[in-house]
Amino acid sequence: MNFEILKTKTQEILSSDETIDERLLKICELLEANIDYYHWVGFYFKNGKKNELKLGPYVGEPTDHIIIPFGKGICGQVAVSNENLVVPDVAAQDNYIACSITVKAEIVIPIFVNGENIGQIDIDSNTPDPFTKEDERFLEFVCKEVSKIL
Ligand code: SME
Repeated sequence: MNFEILKTKTQEILSSDETIDERLLKICELLEANIDYYHWVGFYFKNGKKNELKLGPYVGEPTDHIIIPFGKGICGQVAVSNENLVVPDVAAQDNYIACSITVKAEIVIPIFVNGENIGQIDIDSNTPDPFTKEDERFLEFVCKEVSKIL
């Protein structure tokens, strides 16, 4: 399935009347099932007023990292930088929180509501250096659509 079809499916899922978490889980399932190098797909959101992220809906191996302080790991860095972070080789990153030894690469794209960075989509890949600018543009689209229902 190409990115254009996945964009349409994303909009369809988000426009349903299910709960936010149900819709977000379906987005995770859609991406993990249809993009062969997406092996763990999940959402983290700012935990209330605290400077930390809390794990939201995800698919893939269970992770111990339910709470991530701002600044820590790839996710925590994006919480403070407000910018996409693409890591082609996680072994080369010193500020990285390993979830599984099979993971080779990671991409994190922030989600903005009214200009505020309120969360992110996080994708792990077991394939080395798999993410392109097209993934970034596609995931920015997904995050923008998600922001509309939050
Ligand atoms: N690797 C992430 C932690 C979250 S897991 O990938 C699910 C990080 O360094 O922030």
